Amino acid sequence: MSEIETMPQNASKRVFIKTYGCQMNVYDSDRMADALAPHGYMPTQEIGEADLVLLNTCHIREKASEKVFSELGRLKELQGEKRAAGGDMMIGVAGCVAQAEGEEIARRAPVVDLVFGPQAYHRLPDMLAQAQSQRHMHPALKKAVIDTDFPEEDKFTHLPAARKEATIARGLTAFLTVQEGCDKFCSFCVVPYTRGAEVSRPVSQVLEEARRLVDAGVKEITLLGQNVNAYHGTDAAGRDIGLGELCYLLAEITGLERLRYTTSHPRDMDDGLIAAHRDLPLLMPYLHLPVQSGSDRILKAMNRKHTAAEYLSLIERIKAARPDMALSGDFIVGFPGETDSDFEDTLSIIRETGYASAYSFKYSTRPGTPGANLGHQVPEEIKTERLYRLQELVNQQTTAFHASMVGKTLPVLVERVGRLPGQVGGRSPYLQAVHLEGATDLIGAIHQVEIIGTSTNSLVGRLVRASAA
Ligand code: 5AD
Ligand code: SF4
Repeated sequence: MSEIETMPQNASKRVFIKTYGCQMNVYDSDRMADALAPHGYMPTQEIGEADLVLLNTCHIREKASEKVFSELGRLKELQGEKRAAGGDMMIGVAGCVAQAEGEEIARRAPVVDLVFGPQAYHRLPDMLAQAQSQRHMHPALKKAVIDTDFPEEDKFTHLPAARKEATIARGLTAFLTVQEGCDKFCSFCVVPYTRGAEVSRPVSQVLEEARRLVDAGVKEITLLGQNVNAYHGTDAAGRDIGLGELCYLLAEITGLERLRYTTSHPRDMDDGLIAAHRDLPLLMPYLHLPVQSGSDRILKAMNRKHTAAEYLSLIERIKAARPDMALSGDFIVGFPGETDSDFEDTLSIIRETGYASAYSFKYSTRPGTPGANLGHQVPEEIKTERLYRLQELVNQQTTAFHASMVGKTLPVLVERVGRLPGQVGGRSPYLQAVHLEGATDLIGAIHQVEIIGTSTNSLVGRLVRASAA
């Protein structure tokens, strides 16, 4: 039996988890907290009181990776202060940087006790026990515990479910990972290497987790996957089903009021999923559907496997099924070989599509990806200028989208107290933050709210009708 398995259940150690990057990491951080809870580790928001600090890292762009090493520098100092005061603190690095650079982290930052990739989270308690036994060793003999395997077993069947109190504490909206990994191999992207091949969770496992969440008061679930709409699983009748059909099954869960999913690839947006948007009122009219570039030449070099025209006609089909669909996207500027004219094509596709929001990035060379070997790198100052122009256009679209809501009455899921006293805050179906005057007993339900104004990144509303719930 491992050291920590023998720990008293009520031993109150504290774990501080810092999450970088995408929503999948947010979900994973919660799963790590759930895996540690039976071993006496309770989450804390106060890094100073932590016995264990975990960095759940992101490797998608160069800057994201570098942040990890500067954070480790700060943690080393904090650990030193704690030790000087008679305490201690263990340090672990998880996530995609750990997966890609496990040995390098251990070498560059000897302060780290354990390094483990996204497929090893179910082994965390055992790794921690091993790392703890190393603590008593002479520093020269101490080695970080490293686990960056892609194990045979399914981590989800080994990870404990969240305790109901933990889910309640996390609020009314929850993430649920249904798919991991990517087989698309876009030439700029590290995900197929850090997260591995596409794997979907079984339908029954997804439904069970969704029911548990709803049972703990969750009203809105966002299904997650690096390529979520490539989901396919076997249903109770033994049929292979896609994300669309999974949505129909989830829609049957009483008490689940809103459903979202992210991130999607245009190639996997099939008729079944589009039909679900037409048929299911709980499937929210907001879709993150990255196109990355509007130039066919660059799309080809990126290995996106579709053209700009195909993307636009897909948007038309989606809007035919759900006319009020709000769109969001990701864009990369300065991919190797991108000319002014390619970039103009990107601005054109943005104008033509019309986005409610978008994320945009300068191309960042990632070691091990095919893009890293391409010539014709775009100079930094051109990338900066293109990013600025693109963001200006998207900001105009976002502002116009928010403004188009004024005068409308929208169902708002009220989730929390507002920024100002006497206010509460929530989200519109289109994922916009909405603030309104109202008592805290509005929290926990969907209410009809008239939009009376906008501020920089949110809408201002007025309660029209409180729901009975
Ligand atoms: N450089 C810049 N942006 C990138 N992304 C992924 N890889 C890179 C890279 N090497 C962006 C893409 C993706 C989003 C999650 O991050 O736009 O959709
Ligand atoms: Fe990366 Fe492309 Fe896969 Fe998205 S679809 S995770 S951008 S390789």
